[in-house]
Amino acid sequence: MNGKNILLGVTGGIAAYKCAPLIREFVKRGAEVKVVMTPLAKQFITPLTLATLSKNPILVDFFNPENGEWNSHVSLGMWADAYLIAPATANSIGKMANGVADNLLLTSYLSAKCPVFLAPAMDLDMYKHPAVQKNLETLRSFGNHIIEPGTGFLASGLEGKGRMAEPADIVKAIEEFFSAEQDLKGRRVMITAGPTHEKIDPVRFIGNYSSGKMGYALAEECARRGAMVRLISGPVSVKAQHSSIEVISVESAQQMYDAAMEETKTADIQILCAAVADYRPESMADEKIKREKTGEMTIRLVPNPDIAASLGKVKREGQISVGFALETNDEETNARGKCERKNLDFIVMNSLKDEGAGFRHDTNKITIFDADGSKIEYGLKQKIEVAKDIVDHIVSIIKK
Ligand code: PMT
Repeated sequence: MNGKNILLGVTGGIAAYKCAPLIREFVKRGAEVKVVMTPLAKQFITPLTLATLSKNPILVDFFNPENGEWNSHVSLGMWADAYLIAPATANSIGKMANGVADNLLLTSYLSAKCPVFLAPAMDLDMYKHPAVQKNLETLRSFGNHIIEPGTGFLASGLEGKGRMAEPADIVKAIEEFFSAEQDLKGRRVMITAGPTHEKIDPVRFIGNYSSGKMGYALAEECARRGAMVRLISGPVSVKAQHSSIEVISVESAQQMYDAAMEETKTADIQILCAAVADYRPESMADEKIKREKTGEMTIRLVPNPDIAASLGKVKREGQISVGFALETNDEETNARGKCERKNLDFIVMNSLKDEGAGFRHDTNKITIFDADGSKIEYGLKQKIEVAKDIVDHIVSIIKK
């Protein structure tokens, strides 16, 4: 943590009292801490306490009422190496998930270019509520890191999940994030992610359920470990966070193919996570196709290029190629077949038979099949953890 700039956002919850030891932990480890509070948070812990511990003035208002100076959320967002919101109340979580910007803490969130961590704290029923869970899922899909609350006695007198994580555990989570080994430093990684859309007419397309979550998690993990990432992405709503990720947005399989064939020339590692449509309509109608009064309609499909297989044909000595296999049956046979046909170093199989695996979930369950015949099975995990396992496997090949 030495020399790291931590922006701590304190929202109005009883757990705000834990911010005092939290700041001390950061300062003890050599970090510089600036604190931004919501107006309500000031009622739970005094700004003077946090200013004294952080050795920095506390920011609450958009303007300093004494001299009219502007508290720039943009420069705060640029100053921070990490933005931690602790405690994060249900109210602020909801606002962050929906882009509300009615206080300095929230405008700083929208401006932050750095990794964002949230330590939720609330009553157990609030935490369980589908609205809060949906908002947390939205924040995860933005690439934010949720530091899970603990279980125990709550301020309400009830017992359950909702206690803000202990300061030492919060600091540990952020420390681990920063201390990631830079084992991909200087490597160029190309990743394909998301679905492709194959146009039928100006308003319709053939597509699939890929959300991009798995591919974007891989991009974040590679960037965190020092790689320069080119992320060729189909249409998704997730956003890349890390500044070392350059997103190349495409729509169709042909566009993804063109971008991938260009990027492969300089890529050291390529990870093909996109759910590419294997077929596209032979032609796209210029105008919206009208419903015929009677009769059926046929759309003639022609094959799209197989990006992974095409990359396999031009694969260079030392270049690492990783594919995915999304299966519904005969998983191992199908995955191994694809690994060989597409000239991959290994293939990551996820099966739609496994609950919580594959499209759209925040979780995935994978098995890695190596070209040399070996196999590693993993349990159900968050996609960011799955990404770590995959990148660890890539690094183990590099180190061979
Ligand atoms: O995006 P999420 O919602 O997080 O979901 C993640 C995922 C399920 C999409 C991902 O984990 C996954 O399995 N991606 C591959 C999906 C797929 O198309 O699998 P496949 O078995 O049909 O393809 C095999 C491999 O060939 C894949 O690496 C694929 O990217 C590649 N391929 C396939 C067809 C094609 N025309 N070009 C390709 O490059």
